[in-house]
Amino acid sequence: MPITVGEPIDINGVIYDVKKTLGVGGLSRVYLAVNHHTGEKVAIKSFMYAKFFDKFTHENDCENYWENEVLNTKAQARSGKHSVKVLDYQKKIDLQTPEFYIVLNFIEGMTFQDWYRKFVLTCHGLKHLDLSSVVRYIFLPLAEHLEYCHTEEFIIHRDFSVRNIIIQATENDFWPVLIDWGMSKYIGDDWVDFAPKPYCTEDIPRDITIKQKGAPPDIRFGYMPIPASDIYYLGHLMYFVFTGGIMREDSELNTRADYVLEPKKANHYLPDEYNDVVIKLTQYEPADRPRSMTQVIKMLKELININTIHFDFELFMSPDTHEITGESLDLKEDDQEEKKTKTGEQNSEDKTNEKDQTDSLEGALISGPREEPSKKPEEDIQNSEEMPKPEKIVEEK
Ligand SMILES: Nc1ncnc2c1ncn2[C@@H]1O[C@H](COP(=O)(O)OP(=O)(O)O)[C@@H](O)[C@H]1O
Ligand SMILES: [Mg+2]
Repeated sequence: MPITVGEPIDINGVIYDVKKTLGVGGLSRVYLAVNHHTGEKVAIKSFMYAKFFDKFTHENDCENYWENEVLNTKAQARSGKHSVKVLDYQKKIDLQTPEFYIVLNFIEGMTFQDWYRKFVLTCHGLKHLDLSSVVRYIFLPLAEHLEYCHTEEFIIHRDFSVRNIIIQATENDFWPVLIDWGMSKYIGDDWVDFAPKPYCTEDIPRDITIKQKGAPPDIRFGYMPIPASDIYYLGHLMYFVFTGGIMREDSELNTRADYVLEPKKANHYLPDEYNDVVIKLTQYEPADRPRSMTQVIKMLKELININTIHFDFELFMSPDTHEITGESLDLKEDDQEEKKTKTGEQNSEDKTNEKDQTDSLEGALISGPREEPSKKPEEDIQNSEEMPKPEKIVEEK
């Protein structure tokens, strides 16, 4: 019997009680289940066999897809960083409709998209989503994990989007986990440092086409993925976060220049340095982007030092600091005291101040939603396809 909520399932002789659906994608469903013997929570990914049928060739490549995902998910988990782990996997091919399963460790958290919406756009408890903390705690860990995948395992994720990142948190800490290695590709060491210009030509091997929002041209047009492909996706993520949740729309892609993202056009208060990094990461030609995640990491670390401007979503429409000097503007005395600790008025090497920023972000993330829950019901967030955009930004676009 195929996997069913409320029923047990046997995978390699281990019984799991299937509790609920965690997510449904185009090709698979992911369920929360509990190991009947140990009580451990797991996520079981079940592939929709019929979706892999090719009506032209009459072949079904579900098995190849499943095998690729198992192998690459295992490979990336060797990074020793926060990552999703393969606990078990099984194919049941003697059935009338073959079944393919991967058992993953359950990552308790929200997708980046839901987290962003809940914490940034609806949670009034969050006042401190400052640029350096987001770079430090979200973008850097993702870039470092991908650096490992590219250079040590020769794997490109290729589907690095807001729904494939889960933000996991404990009482005192939080971190991103990159999931869904279904579209990933092992490219071998020959391709890791290779990015001829122009790239999308007949000399480059063709591969699958992915129309994911945020996908670079090399992926949208179905060419061999390379590290610069994931680098573009990271640029799109950086754009998304500091524009208040704008995703590049396919309809906007009329010319090559449209691929290059400039968050400052939507968010006037963003420092030029940040805008410049996003522009570099989202160049049309892979060869014009940074060559490796190692280079990107260096650029991100430089961004952490921008402490002169306190970036604050709540004050999107009325900044609390001067755009250039970073000095406080027209605030009540108490507020000014409070802001001073968070804006980094001392120089950027002051570790005490960096710690204050860290604490305020962590505090806001961990305690914010409990103290002041989102006004929207959870279901709305889960079911919504699109991110809401703050009215002001939409107008400015
Ligand atoms: N290991 C996991 N722990 C918790 N939730 C998960 C896990 N893996 C996937 N999910 C949830 O299921 C959704 C779909 O999973 P994903 O691997 O992205 O499948 P698809 O290939 O169908 O997009 C994710 O967005 C996430 O919400
Ligand atoms: Mg997915």
